[in-house]
Amino acid sequence: MAKSIPTTSMGLTGDLKKPLGLAHKPRRKVEYSMPPEKLEIFKSLENWAEKNVLTHLKPVEKCWQPQHFLPDAASDGFFKQVEELRKRTAEIPDDYFVVLVGDMITEEALPTYQSMLNTYNGIRDETGSSLTPWAVWIRAWTAEENRHGDLLNKYLYLSGRVDMIQIEKTVQYLIGSGMDIQTENNPYLGFIYTSFQERATFISHSNTARLAKHYGDENLARICRTIAGDEKRHETAYTKIMEKLFELDPDSSVKAFANMMQKKISMPAHWVYDGQDEDLFMHFSAVAQRLGVYTAADYASIFEFLVERWSVEKLTRLSGEGRKAQDYICGLAPRMKRLEERVQLRAKQTLTVPFSWIFNRPVKL
Ligand SMILES: [Fe+2]
Ligand SMILES: [Fe+2]
Repeated sequence: MAKSIPTTSMGLTGDLKKPLGLAHKPRRKVEYSMPPEKLEIFKSLENWAEKNVLTHLKPVEKCWQPQHFLPDAASDGFFKQVEELRKRTAEIPDDYFVVLVGDMITEEALPTYQSMLNTYNGIRDETGSSLTPWAVWIRAWTAEENRHGDLLNKYLYLSGRVDMIQIEKTVQYLIGSGMDIQTENNPYLGFIYTSFQERATFISHSNTARLAKHYGDENLARICRTIAGDEKRHETAYTKIMEKLFELDPDSSVKAFANMMQKKISMPAHWVYDGQDEDLFMHFSAVAQRLGVYTAADYASIFEFLVERWSVEKLTRLSGEGRKAQDYICGLAPRMKRLEERVQLRAKQTLTVPFSWIFNRPVKL
């Protein structure tokens, strides 16, 4: 039976932050770090983007849709298909569900990511329906991404293994919170971030696919693999944009890369909150680390991949500051290695935490 809907109204007086999910670190002021003359670069790249970036989008008619992977509610076999799905998911352990739910919630906060892309000077969608290739990309990318959360959400719902109300609340809190990834209004910083992040999601969905297969749910494995395939395509597009920027403007590009790595790439759901656990992101990340879905070693490997992808070590035509940034990037890998070892050491602690997403059942961190 469906749970009742809470009827008490949430007053907007007093502390507004908590009920709306805004009880996080103070917001920082935006630094407008991209000089206005750089806008020209993005304008001049429009033809290039049309031919080199938009080609990484898939025509809608050729795209998979969530329904391709789900029991068909319009067919007579629906209940049988749901039963089979539930039989398969019954074999999957709780800790896996914590990670899959966290990944799904991250996907479901898509409005935040679209807003973020629309803060970047020179590429933002000025009207909501602009036909510049940058704006077309932002909307069509969002439309592709929208299927990810949709599919995982429905699959998790049908599994009956998770507390949907807690999950839905978490999504609402997270979208309400936004995120603070410190890319300012600067597309150089933004495209470093999205390159990193698309690869991170590719890795984590590939790992949830591998584990689903291991637990005997081939259907779920196929779902996660398919989503990972999209993320890979997006990674290709974003890293290509950065490659072009490295070619045209190596100095700003390398400074942007160093700047983002100094700030550390925050995960998009870093403010995730379920109304109960103030350290939910830390707890979710610890489980993802322990299961090997997304780890400190993955963070380091993404970084190393990008350094190689953009040939950072070979960059020339750099200013003094640009060379400093290049040195910083080139010396960063060993420091990350040490961090990784510390994380592994911490992971050996055996703390157990209840997760509201799975009816407060405890899970080892
Ligand atoms: Fe996604
Ligand atoms: Fe993606």
